[in-house]
Amino acid sequence: MLKNDLLLRALRGEKTERVPVWMMRQAGRYLPDYMKLKAKYDFFTRVQTPELAAAITLQPIDQVGVDAAIIFSDILVIPQAMGLEVLMEEGKGPSLPKVIQSQKDIDALNTADAAHHLKYVLDALSLTKKELNGRVPLIGFAGAPWTILCYMVEGKGSKTWDKAKQFAYTQPLLAHQLLQKITDITIDYLKAQVAAGADTVQVFDSWAGSLSPADFKIYAQPYLLQISDALKHHAPVILFPKGTWYALKDLAASSASGLGIDWCVAPKVARELTNNSITLQGNFDPAKLLAPIPEIRKAVKEMISEFGTHRYIANLGHGITPNVPVDHAKAFVDAVKEFGVAN
Ligand code: CP3
Repeated sequence: MLKNDLLLRALRGEKTERVPVWMMRQAGRYLPDYMKLKAKYDFFTRVQTPELAAAITLQPIDQVGVDAAIIFSDILVIPQAMGLEVLMEEGKGPSLPKVIQSQKDIDALNTADAAHHLKYVLDALSLTKKELNGRVPLIGFAGAPWTILCYMVEGKGSKTWDKAKQFAYTQPLLAHQLLQKITDITIDYLKAQVAAGADTVQVFDSWAGSLSPADFKIYAQPYLLQISDALKHHAPVILFPKGTWYALKDLAASSASGLGIDWCVAPKVARELTNNSITLQGNFDPAKLLAPIPEIRKAVKEMISEFGTHRYIANLGHGITPNVPVDHAKAFVDAVKEFGVAN
């Protein structure tokens, strides 16, 4: 039994005593205890060792007081499970030495047995669930097919994702084959995460905003919808296609329970576009966490007033950055908790 199920109730559209709050990338480099483990173990050792992943997942629950835990892992475990090498270099971000370019490359990708290849994530989820002891819900996650394609084709991060887009626009049949393969393994993987203890799952489409509205509908939205349809009887799904405010109306009609939004759309506009019919999550500018604490508190109040307290999960509009002082992150969380009772 969960002692704090605010997040799940908000996702079900139920009234809550107060607004639930968590932060994307909350288990990470702004926390001094995370940095201690980072100094000892490389990135994928931290991800692949259930005891380490569980310990990191719990840090923001204990230290910042968020209303949900998100499992410490990465979206790039899917390319690894599909057979690609992924390196995480300090200061450089992720890189994939072999990129996807041809039919042969796609044919060689594995889509079977996600639960076997990613057993360490499932073990980390079960262990975390046990250690949480019902304190807060546990969020599982995966990258969205378009965002995973971006890394598989580009081989590293990009500002424009022009190679990934070139691949899609010049070889659309191959792009759709690849997107479908990623979708298939992701669905199995997310179902396995729920079976292992995830109470809800979030799909991160971090680079959806690199596409035009028309191309989002072709290369991203159909696969997001397949995932949410496949998971809807397993757990509530939160879709976070960053930078796609124009899609809110369509996505509000999907089987997802929640939509994550970034700070480029005003809360009232997001409510109008979704007709108050779905739970919204977001959308504090992570850089605003660098403002003086009284400013953070003021901006949080404004944000909640605009969203309203019903069908709402307070969060950032993207991941927290490493330069945020812990007391500023805590001020954000406390300001949400103090906002008052739902009416
Ligand atoms: O939210 C959480 O606290 C759970 C952990 C989590 C990580 N990555 C750990 C991580 C989650 C949910 C992710 C998702 C992820 N990974 C996304 C989608 C969310 C987003 O921010 O858009 C993306 C695009 C990735 C790919 C990735 N992993 C990048 C681009 C990088 C390097 C850039 C960076 O942020 O450092 C990573 C590495 C990574 N994943 C770190 C962490 C804590 C930092 C590296 C380290 O600590 O050694």
